[in-house]
Amino acid sequence: MTGAIYAEGLVKSFGDVRALDGVDLDVPEGTVLGLLGPNGAGKTTAVRVLTTLIRPDRGRAVVAGIDVLKKPNEVRHAIGLSGQFAAVDEYLTGRENLRMVGQLYQLGARDAKARAVELLERFHLTDAADRPARTYSGGMRRRLDLAAALVVSPPVMFMDEPTTGLDPRNRQQLWEVVQELVAGGTTLLLTTQYLEEADHLAHDICVIDHGRVIARGTSDQLKARTGGERVELVVHEPGHLEPALGVVRAFGEGEPTVDRHTRRVTVPVSGGARLLAEIIRELDARDIEIDDIGLRRPTLDDVFISLTGHAAEETAEAPAPRQEAAR
Ligand SMILES: Nc1ncnc2c1ncn2[C@@H]1O[C@H](COP(=O)(O)OP(=O)(O)OP(=O)(O)O)[C@@H](O)[C@H]1O
Ligand SMILES: [Mg+2]
Repeated sequence: MTGAIYAEGLVKSFGDVRALDGVDLDVPEGTVLGLLGPNGAGKTTAVRVLTTLIRPDRGRAVVAGIDVLKKPNEVRHAIGLSGQFAAVDEYLTGRENLRMVGQLYQLGARDAKARAVELLERFHLTDAADRPARTYSGGMRRRLDLAAALVVSPPVMFMDEPTTGLDPRNRQQLWEVVQELVAGGTTLLLTTQYLEEADHLAHDICVIDHGRVIARGTSDQLKARTGGERVELVVHEPGHLEPALGVVRAFGEGEPTVDRHTRRVTVPVSGGARLLAEIIRELDARDIEIDDIGLRRPTLDDVFISLTGHAAEETAEAPAPRQEAAR
């Protein structure tokens, strides 16, 4: 018995780039899979293959019990997709966009209208409902795209970075919508750069890089695998970053990471509070002033860094690395 989303050996190349290099997935019905990976890892490509938008070069996929390659049209009727590249029609109003989707899915005109009203309300778009989508802000557009994906409640949903560009309130709101959907039996594959989101919503997490699955498990399993605790400190002055790195490197169990922007240094340790005290003494002896220091368990961000060598929220649009492995 395979899950509601099942893939085996998916391969997809674009010229020289192997966007997918043998990806296997199995998402049990009624659960959420968080697909994580750095920019260019192959997440959107996987979503596009599973939602029939592109054909893989090799491999097999079954979604909602339907073979994706053999019966793409049937698959399209069984799924909802909210994409990284929104499918919103710029020239229609928010309300018209939602009604159009309803009619595409063969809701009667009356039902499509009622559903549009309900979703506009839910995503705080009622005031803007009758303006063309091209006048919407980025976050409003994002919400309209999500609302469009929810016009019919399909058994299987795909959301590619659903909350990128949403403010905290709207992100929280979307999380609630997702939780309701899943409680109602929907199976969801979600990609995200926000590891907190995966932690919060996903039953299982699959980390991909260079088109391959490099780790999978629950958030707790992945954190346990990364192991150990972390000492995290913030130096008072940027000029103290280098000497602080020297200190933590001597006490740590692995390479520290540094976020120059926030002057934060993190290093895996074993030795708990006693080691923390030693680090503090050493920093003090060298007159390195610190604003904050503490011991914490690994987060999903640490898992991600240890697996892929860099942080999740680096984006192609913002090339200046805020967080990088210290050399
Ligand atoms: N249509 C295409 N033509 C050429 N190359 C492509 C195409 N689509 C994707 N690629 C390449 O395939 C690789 C995987 O891209 P993909 O969009 O799946 O990554 P992603 O994990 O979704 O990244 P991001 O986090 O930036 O959204 C990248 O190297 C990308 O440049
Ligand atoms: Mg993508």
